[in-house]
Amino acid sequence: MAYSADTYKKAERELKNRREKALLDREKRHAEAVKKIPEILELEAEMSSAGLAAVKAVGMGADAKEYIDRLAKINLEAGEKRTALLKENGFPEDWLKVRYSCPVCEDTGAVNGYYCECYKDLLRAIEYEKLCSKLPVDNCRFDNFRLDYYPDSAGISPKKRMESIYNYCKSYAADISKSSGSLLMYGATGLGKTHLSLAIAGKAVERGMGVIYTSAQNLFNRLEREKFGRGADENTEQTIIECDLLIIDDLGAEFCTPFTVSALYNIINSRELEGRPTIISTNLDPAAVNKAYGERIASRLMSNYQLLKFDGSDIRQIKTK
Ligand SMILES: Nc1ncnc2c1ncn2[C@@H]1O[C@H](COP(=O)(O)OP(=O)(O)OP(=O)(O)O)[C@@H](O)[C@H]1O
Ligand SMILES: [Mg+2]
Ligand SMILES: [Zn+2]
Repeated sequence: MAYSADTYKKAERELKNRREKALLDREKRHAEAVKKIPEILELEAEMSSAGLAAVKAVGMGADAKEYIDRLAKINLEAGEKRTALLKENGFPEDWLKVRYSCPVCEDTGAVNGYYCECYKDLLRAIEYEKLCSKLPVDNCRFDNFRLDYYPDSAGISPKKRMESIYNYCKSYAADISKSSGSLLMYGATGLGKTHLSLAIAGKAVERGMGVIYTSAQNLFNRLEREKFGRGADENTEQTIIECDLLIIDDLGAEFCTPFTVSALYNIINSRELEGRPTIISTNLDPAAVNKAYGERIASRLMSNYQLLKFDGSDIRQIKTK
């Protein structure tokens, strides 16, 4: 997919940093080795003058071969001696090798004229970072989600309902993939919708999926800004449609306009066509979703998303007591 020019620039800069760092690290390791084994410098001088002589010899014609073979031998022997010295002095075998972050492309971003996987990962990471600076998954995990916050009243017990939602989300996250189903979490404020969606996001990230988490408000602001001028360079809508897992938090809190409705429709519909999972959380119940976003969106959500109705009393308030 296409990214903004700014994203490519950032990726190039990052690759350059990686290369420079790899070379600098190698210099440091080299200096450390030389400090312990000064003889290394002599061997390296031998190697490089043999190399230079071989370059000159290329112009010598037929006699060159024997000469070059001899130089190659000198070079090889000096190299082997250096390796042996390093080993004797307790250095690992690859001590003087440049250790690139990506050995496949040596941090150039390309192999055989194609983008390296590391470069694609980098582009994606930069693009996602722009959308959700850093996923706030640290505080919201499955293992700190407590069921004793929910009242266990007779009849339809919120605690029992939440226990089954918790179990559902946990097993959903346990085998989440690029083709998992979609979820609609709805219910009053402070019941753990954001908490559970971030717990799922954490598992998806662990699996190497490209996750975008964004509040509906941020998402629409951004799309609107791009559509109407500033930031024409960006490509948020496509990134949103193509990420492996999209989480739209707090749908309904934003200012609803024909623009936001049509943008939301396009996102939901396009992701559905590609079979990509989306998690939406909202304070609106199905009837209110229908009223705010219209039937085309509501009917898609109601029939294709797993509906999870959260119940209980505001945990934000319980926690601050
Ligand atoms: N079951 C739970 N166990 C532990 N902490 C919880 C639980 N549910 C919610 N919390 C915490 O309570 C706070 C509010 O929860 P959260 O943000 O998930 O609610 P929400 O349903 O998304 O509310 P809103 O509709 O206002 O966005 C958060 O700090 C969250 O970590
Ligand atoms: Mg929330
Ligand atoms: Zn690479």
